[in-house]
Amino acid sequence: MIIAAFNPKGGVGRTTTAVNLATVLAGTKRRVLLVDLEPEMNASISLGVRPQQSRPSVVDVLLNERRASDAIRRVSGIDNLFLLTGSTELADMDARLRNVRQPERRLADSIRPLASEFDAVIMDAPSGYSLMSMSVPIAADHLVVPIRADYLALESLAHFLRWYRQRRTSRKAHADVIGILLTMVDHRRKATREIVDIIRAHNKRGVFRTEIPEDPRAAEAPSHGVPLVAYAKSRAARAYVAVTDELLARLPRRPR
Ligand SMILES: Nc1ncnc2c1ncn2[C@@H]1O[C@H](COP(=O)(O)OP(=O)(O)OP(=O)(O)O)[C@@H](O)[C@H]1O
Ligand SMILES: [Mg+2]
Repeated sequence: MIIAAFNPKGGVGRTTTAVNLATVLAGTKRRVLLVDLEPEMNASISLGVRPQQSRPSVVDVLLNERRASDAIRRVSGIDNLFLLTGSTELADMDARLRNVRQPERRLADSIRPLASEFDAVIMDAPSGYSLMSMSVPIAADHLVVPIRADYLALESLAHFLRWYRQRRTSRKAHADVIGILLTMVDHRRKATREIVDIIRAHNKRGVFRTEIPEDPRAAEAPSHGVPLVAYAKSRAARAYVAVTDELLARLPRRPR
């Protein structure tokens, strides 16, 4: 199974979600691969990889310059968790894949064969509507859509879901939306409570019951190169454990 943290809107908690989902799943003795698709390498850095240590990266695999098995590394300190690092070169992928037939399929062609070697592949998608971003719903089976509970997120979510439905209809996306995840939620704010209610009312079962609370530990953990769930037993860490359970319950049954 391939799951991506996906939302073209930036700064919504995609990386934090991908890193912590992957870590929690690895803690359940599942063999997990995290694929970092951001030129900023935020997921790789959050797992202790320095930018100068990025090679071999996912770019080498996408360009067929390395076999995935040679580019995947173990994450130190976390059993069962493996990483394909991001790279600054991801910023140029639109140009680098210009002469490839069906460039949007390249990510699926590179990553989908790996799914049988892992219990879960988790992708951290970049923001925006670039070639790499648009490749993610073709390569993934399921999308977790993190959103912040603020007014603009509400507007963006409606737009995103409409756009995504059209994309699925025209077969430009394969993955289903397995759940919308409210992130950085602060229920002390009245505006947040109102927006959470509207999002839940309009999306019924589509929104995970678990919300990720605003938590300073979440922003701190990356500077230590350790995922939040391994760094602190804080509120957001507990929420990531809970939402992983919810996610597993939502997935179609398959033998482990
Ligand atoms: N629950 C939380 N509470 C407080 N801060 C958080 C929380 N989750 C994430 N953050 C912080 O908010 C910022 C954005 O989160 P993150 O990097 O996960 O989002 P993103 O969608 O991947 O962003 P980008 O568009 O930059 O890729 C980061 O600095 C992160 O550490
Ligand atoms: Mg990110």
